[in-house]
Amino acid sequence: MEFITVNPQAKPAVALVSLNRPKELNALNLQLMSELRDAIQALDANPEVRAIVITGNEKAFAAGADIKQMAGKNTIDMLLADQFATWEAIRRCKKPLIAAVSGFALGGGCELAMTCDMIVASETAQFGQPEIKIGVIPGAGGTQRLTRAIGKAKAMELVLTGRFISAAEADRLGLVTRVVPVELCLSEALSLAAKVAEMSPLAVRLAKEAVNQTYENHLNDGLHFERKNFYMLFASDDQKEGMAAFIEKRKPQFTGR
Ligand code: CAA
Repeated sequence: MEFITVNPQAKPAVALVSLNRPKELNALNLQLMSELRDAIQALDANPEVRAIVITGNEKAFAAGADIKQMAGKNTIDMLLADQFATWEAIRRCKKPLIAAVSGFALGGGCELAMTCDMIVASETAQFGQPEIKIGVIPGAGGTQRLTRAIGKAKAMELVLTGRFISAAEADRLGLVTRVVPVELCLSEALSLAAKVAEMSPLAVRLAKEAVNQTYENHLNDGLHFERKNFYMLFASDDQKEGMAAFIEKRKPQFTGR
């Protein structure tokens, strides 16, 4: 594993997976996501593990999918790469996933946190779906899960403007389970996981499944729809311009083509 570390017993029956690509603010490239999928699948199959915490570092949980890796791709490249298959596998994890978020949770980083079952945020956490600023849209569930979590009026604003929200606002809006001081974030997430790990694993599994079922069928359709629109944007000049502008550290000039 190059971009993540795994501790299968950070606490009794609680595993900890840390994203570890700090120079790039844990940008989620294809290799990191494959490693994460492999780790989650292995922990899901490990009978010693009953709950899993995913974390980043103090500066970033994750600043999104890797823009540099996507910048030159076209729609067909995106379709064939099928990068969201790894996300689907993580979503299928039967054990509870808890995100411990400090710093940036943006784009795919916010989507990864929302794919988890609970989010413990530190006071420094910032959430957002800034894809619009680089000429695309969320592709890993942001339009669906954010809207479900905080409602249309707020989600629409965040998805259309790319504004970041603080941990306090995320708490007010119901996006996160709780907010704690940064130095307590990981220990709080591990304690929450340990509490869940004391329960019957079978009841926990079926409870998670039942809560998710409240919108599972609708979510499947929504994810599919979002993904097609995300891929379609890779046929646009604005996607090329938006991502190039990010890499070149300048303001993009969007033309609507
Ligand atoms: N992809 C690739 N590299 C990234 C990245 C990303 N998502 N986010 C940050 N980086 C890189 C930067 O390019 C920079 O690298 P260099 O040192 O080589 O220039 C390094 O990480 C540090 O970043 P900054 O210098 O930009 O740090 P900052 O503190 O000034 O700004 C930030 C932090 C506001 C998070 C800014 O980095 C940023 O806006 N990042 C991009 C956020 C974003 O747009 N995310 C959505 C990605 S698309 C997506 O996720 C699609 C999807 O739905 C799956």
